[in-house]
Parts: sequence; C-alpha cells; structure tokens
Amino acid sequence: MELKLRLKVFRYDPANGRQGFDTFEVEYEEGMTFLTAFHRIKENVDPSLTFRHFCRAGICGTCTVFINGFPKLACKEQVLPYILTQEEIIVEPLDKFPIIRDLAVNHEDVIERMKKFHTWIKEYEGEVRIPPQVSKRIEKAADCILCSACQSYCPQVLETEYAGPLFFAKFYRFLEDPRDRDKEYRFKEAVVEGHLYHCLSCDKCNSTCPKEVEPATLIRELMTYIKEHGQAKC
Ligand code: FES
Repeated sequence: MELKLRLKVFRYDPANGRQGFDTFEVEYEEGMTFLTAFHRIKENVDPSLTFRHFCRAGICGTCTVFINGFPKLACKEQVLPYILTQEEIIVEPLDKFPIIRDLAVNHEDVIERMKKFHTWIKEYEGEVRIPPQVSKRIEKAADCILCSACQSYCPQVLETEYAGPLFFAKFYRFLEDPRDRDKEYRFKEAVVEGHLYHCLSCDKCNSTCPKEVEPATLIRELMTYIKEHGQAKC
C-alpha cells in the first residue's frame, strides 16, 4: 500500500506579510523523517519553502519545529507513526521566537542571553581535575544542543526577565564544574538576573528536551545547590 504524508505547513512571507497554512502531500519513503519530507516538498513542489537544518543527525539543534503543537527535531522525528494515526499533521515554527520566513525563526535573543549570562567557562589556571562523580552530574546538562525546544515550550518564558530552562541547565552545569570558579557570580546571575524562582515547576521542559537534559530537574537541583552553598550571597 502506498503511504502518503499530508502536511499542513505554516507559511510566512516577509515580503508581503502573507501568512497562513499550505497543505502538501508527500509520498512516504522508508525511514522518512520530517526533515526529509521538507526536502521533498522543496525539491518537487515548492522551492520557496524555508526551514533550517545543518547536521541532520540530532546534534546541531537547528531544525526544531512544532509538530502538532509539540517541539521536535525535524531530522530525528520519524513520519511513519503520524501517517498511521493521523490524516493531517500540522507543522509550525518554534513558538515565542520571531519568524523570519516559514519555519525559520530568529535565535538572536538566545545568543544575546548567552553573551549576557557568560555561558562558558571563564579562564582558569593550571590543571583542574574533575572527579568522575562530578563529571557524571554535569554530563546531563552538557548534552544540551541549544535547540530551544524547552524555551519555546516553557509558559514562563513569556515573562521576558525570566532566563528560561535552557539557561538554568547551563547555570547548573557551571555551578557543578570545578573549572568555573566564580560561583557567587553564577548564583547572582541565576537568581537575581535570571529570576530562577519564577519557575512554575510545570515540567514541560523535561517532556520536550530531545536530549533528555531534563531542565526542570536541573532547576530543582540548582535551587537545592543554591540553598546549601550560597543562599546568603544572593
Ligand atoms: Fe542538526 Fe536536526 S539538523 S539537529
């Protein structure tokens, strides 16, 4: 039996401001992902369809889109389970991000916040040994690929001062990492600048992270860490 994928894709053209949905039918190919389906549409039906991708292997985090209202990596998400259960699948750009065109959004805000929060290890001197048990704790947070699925699905991100799950996972990683020595700075950035305690504990970010970073779990661990190590300094 020939299987067909029916996609209702959000379109936005900045040249004329037109926005709405276009419906496309794509023939199923074995192992087909949503990213492959986008390429088939672009090659065979509408060359103007715009979407982002790079690695095609779930590593770069650039291909995230909303599929039936849930953020997914288009290069990892298989279409077959959708075809077997639904007539039409809705594909939209990441929520809470400015749309550039069709499924491509502007990530500038995330980049600016990364600069603001210094989400990298500052210079350190000499050799720093990371005990295996500490390495295991930071491993999870370090798996983040900056795909922004958690940011786009977090209801509290609408409060612009709230840093968001992506950044709290980073704060946790740096607080645990012995190479990052300015812990007081990290406490203040997380609590005062990032408004850590405005987290709603809804766990939506845990359910959406494609790398199982579990930002909500890390947020709770961050709160415990701050309580035990630095409450007085915040
Ligand atoms: Fe890199 Fe999907 S294209 S994560």
